[in-house]
Amino acid sequence: MKKIGILTSGGDCSGMNACIRAAVRTAIRMNMEVVGFRKGYLGLMKGDCIPLDTKAVSGILHRGGTFLQSARSEEFRTPEGQKKAMEILANLKIDGLVVIGGDGSLKGAQALHRLGMPVIGVPASIDNDIPYTDMALGVDSALNNIIYAVDCIKDTASSHARAFVIEVMGRNSGYLASIAAIASGAEYALVPERETDLAEICQQLRARYEEGRDNAIIILAEGAGHGDEIAATIKDAIGFETRVTVLGHYQRGGAPTVFDRLLASRFGKNAVEFLANGQRGVMVGLSCNSVLSTPIDDVVKGEKRPQDEVLRLAEVLGI
Ligand code: F6P
Repeated sequence: MKKIGILTSGGDCSGMNACIRAAVRTAIRMNMEVVGFRKGYLGLMKGDCIPLDTKAVSGILHRGGTFLQSARSEEFRTPEGQKKAMEILANLKIDGLVVIGGDGSLKGAQALHRLGMPVIGVPASIDNDIPYTDMALGVDSALNNIIYAVDCIKDTASSHARAFVIEVMGRNSGYLASIAAIASGAEYALVPERETDLAEICQQLRARYEEGRDNAIIILAEGAGHGDEIAATIKDAIGFETRVTVLGHYQRGGAPTVFDRLLASRFGKNAVEFLANGQRGVMVGLSCNSVLSTPIDDVVKGEKRPQDEVLRLAEVLGI
């Protein structure tokens, strides 16, 4: 393999830069030429790429986001668009591609693989909803951002005797909300994987209030309801002054944690080694602290990552 391409696609996350850097450094060690496509599949559709060498990826390990940028491309979703992408890759004499992104990006990788392109996927999404990896890139950094914010909000919640509904991202996954609630000592996590009995929660909050606990933190996964409605229900039911904080895109940025820097480095290195060793159409993933490969076909058709163990932990801890 002489020349490879790298792209980052879908929602950005901390650790993408560190992963690009590791992939580039590994490829250069193997005497491969590397190019980076700008703005994900959108850049690929235009052949918009830049050469990547050690200098091009210096000073980015600790930076959030992706210096290659990310975007969504409607054209690439079509069979014609995917054929066009293959032609562009052939014209650029690219023998292998590393795709760093979430479930949509991996579907794109699968399409190119089926058309004959040697592709390796790297799971990167704060939602942690990608099957066949214990952790996706960016999850740990997002969680640390969330915990910092929740700790801050707890201070003001206790000063003013208020309840806070704090909405976190995750699309249809409650992973961020569950872990954030466990790790921050929140009262409740409302997640899409579990039905919410708001009346029961209000009753418990009322009981706590009567015992003298006059503040509460409820972590709401964005896929599990509307913060304003939940806050209004709590206020009406128990008279607790309630505020809503939507953490939004703050969660996705910032310097990656040590965990994500290491995971990114391992994923980037292994992705290139897998390509060089002849693996095709697989995704790198973390399983029991080893980096393994799984066919992207299985990843794409796999059930969403089950959150059973995390939900059970939250339940046992009374969250
Ligand atoms: O998939 C990552 C994610 O951050 C989700 O948690 C969130 O719902 C979505 O992306 C937000 O997308 P956008 O950045 O396009 O608003």
